[in-house]
Amino acid sequence: MATQNGSEEVRGLEGVVALSSELSSIDGEAGQLVYRGYDIYDLAENASFEEVVYLLWNGDLPTASQLDTLKSDLRAARELPDPVIDILRQTPDTAHPMAVLRTAVSALGLYDEEADADSPEANRRKATRLLARTPGIIAAYARLRNDEAPIAPLDEASMAYNFLYMLNGEEPGRAAEDTFDTCLVLHADHGLNASTFTSRVIGSTLSDMYSAVSGAIGALKGPLHGGANREVMRMLLDIDKKGADPTEYVQEKLANKERVMGFGHRVYRTMDPRAAILRDRVQALSEERNATKWYDYSMAILNTVKSEKGLDPNVDFFSASTYYMMGLDPDLFTPIFALSRSAGWTAHLLEQWTDNRLIRPRAAYVGKTGRTVTPIDER
Ligand code: CMC
Repeated sequence: MATQNGSEEVRGLEGVVALSSELSSIDGEAGQLVYRGYDIYDLAENASFEEVVYLLWNGDLPTASQLDTLKSDLRAARELPDPVIDILRQTPDTAHPMAVLRTAVSALGLYDEEADADSPEANRRKATRLLARTPGIIAAYARLRNDEAPIAPLDEASMAYNFLYMLNGEEPGRAAEDTFDTCLVLHADHGLNASTFTSRVIGSTLSDMYSAVSGAIGALKGPLHGGANREVMRMLLDIDKKGADPTEYVQEKLANKERVMGFGHRVYRTMDPRAAILRDRVQALSEERNATKWYDYSMAILNTVKSEKGLDPNVDFFSASTYYMMGLDPDLFTPIFALSRSAGWTAHLLEQWTDNRLIRPRAAYVGKTGRTVTPIDER
């Protein structure tokens, strides 16, 4: 759209290539997502979250001994500073869980002696501490708000297993660990999405990793980004509670010009591959449990939004029912997204700092021009 002074109006940086990255790439036409050269289908099937973290941070998949070292570094770094637990204890009941996570991650920086150290080694240690502590923050918060004591993680378990264990106080089964691990793999990185861009903008000022990741959590919180998964579940629960027909429910939303959460994407012009992988998980979970209603509602919504608007689902659409069927609280869905994406945010920051240049675009000025100040009593 042309503006008053003739320049083109620029909205949402659509199509703008802002920087180069070796971390992940998206082919929006083909519906392909690749981390460092590996297709997401391959990684979801054949790699654990810890292997993907190593891949993102180092460029290659780990050998067995490199993986052992990463796991022991993560294990050694995961204890939360007591003052951070106190902050979690004191959050008001009305707080948004993403605001709690943002605050707690920011507070981690207060108790990290290396918070402002900027050597590659120090940044790497901070990335490890940040990723190692995020699951404990979310699980401790979820328990404290129900007046339950936080639970310490188990020594040898995976991050996926330990998160579910710290949350529920029960050892998860193999299938739950596997599904959750796949979810973590799928959400770990995704090109220059809004929160990753936020983290790189903050990092590019040579601010610290905690500031950058806190900012990224703030960006992810929004319903147009990571916050969509919680909204999807709210919609499915509302349909269920009202006994509504899912097709009519979304037709009404579309007729009212409302957005259907979990659909549409800035880059994909076809099904998000992460949604396709999770759709199959939801179907399998439904069949296992002999309870197919969430899958049935989801498929009815998918078919309606596709035929009425031509939009395909994104990752948030099927992650919602996957998490719900695993017994997770809807308001923890976005913090869980953040837990996984911390791998990508920190990898992007490490990459940014290997060859930093301040990220500072310009705005097309579309405001008034040529004005002069009138004295205040004459305005
Ligand atoms: N429901 C209904 N209409 C939609 C939707 C939707 N979910 N998404 C886009 N549209 C329509 C929109 O109304 C507009 O129509 P019109 O041209 O008639 O006004 C057209 O499609 C283009 O929309 P846009 O907002 O300009 O497109 P965008 O590239 O800026 O939006 C998006 C991308 C993800 C913000 C948008 O699709 C959306 O709001 N989706 C719902 C929220 C959501 O699921 N977010 C998760 C994104 S993926 C995972 C993540 O990053 O967390």
